[in-house]
Amino acid sequence: MIELLRDDITTLRVDAIVNAASPALRGGGGVDGAIHAAAGPELLEELHRWTHCRPGSAVITSGHRLPARYVIHAVGPVWHGGSQAEPALLRGAYDTAFELARERADIRTIAFSAISTGVYGFPKPLAARIAVAAMRDNEHHFDRVIACVFDEDNAAAYRAALAPDGDLPAA
Ligand code: APR
Repeated sequence: MIELLRDDITTLRVDAIVNAASPALRGGGGVDGAIHAAAGPELLEELHRWTHCRPGSAVITSGHRLPARYVIHAVGPVWHGGSQAEPALLRGAYDTAFELARERADIRTIAFSAISTGVYGFPKPLAARIAVAAMRDNEHHFDRVIACVFDEDNAAAYRAALAPDGDLPAA
């Protein structure tokens, strides 16, 4: 079962949280900024192992001072109107995050932020359908899969996507 939580993802006691990162992997605002602030400067140090991460992909680090053991830094696409493969790139970010989590036996619980729905401007209803479709394809590998949202618009979008008749094709 996919759980919908309206909370600050940095406070969750789960094995892994999924950040909405930038390709530079050097922190930023939004959920990325909150995660870096809570994890401490060691997170940025660890991220220097990578020069960048392309949109649609992800890297995994330790959670450092967070309650979560790992952070998966997934890079979603910037929304340019929908003609630049944005839905496929967002799905790729979720799929890569799940692949990285499945490679580690000590990740049984995982919480996702609503990737690309803030500064990157992805329409929330479509992003929620893409996220929920990816979660439905992977939830059987985990004890808990959590969609962690911050704002009411995203909460409503996820409630619709999670409704029995809400699982429409993502794009
Ligand atoms: N916990 C959970 N969700 C949060 C939190 C938090 N503490 N803070 C913000 N959010 C939510 C926002 O409400 C938004 O719906 O995270 C979602 C993603 O928004 P952004 O953080 O703006 O991420 P995104 O749209 O993917 O843009 C990524 O923003 O901060 C930069 O470095 C980041 O350049 C990258 C870009």
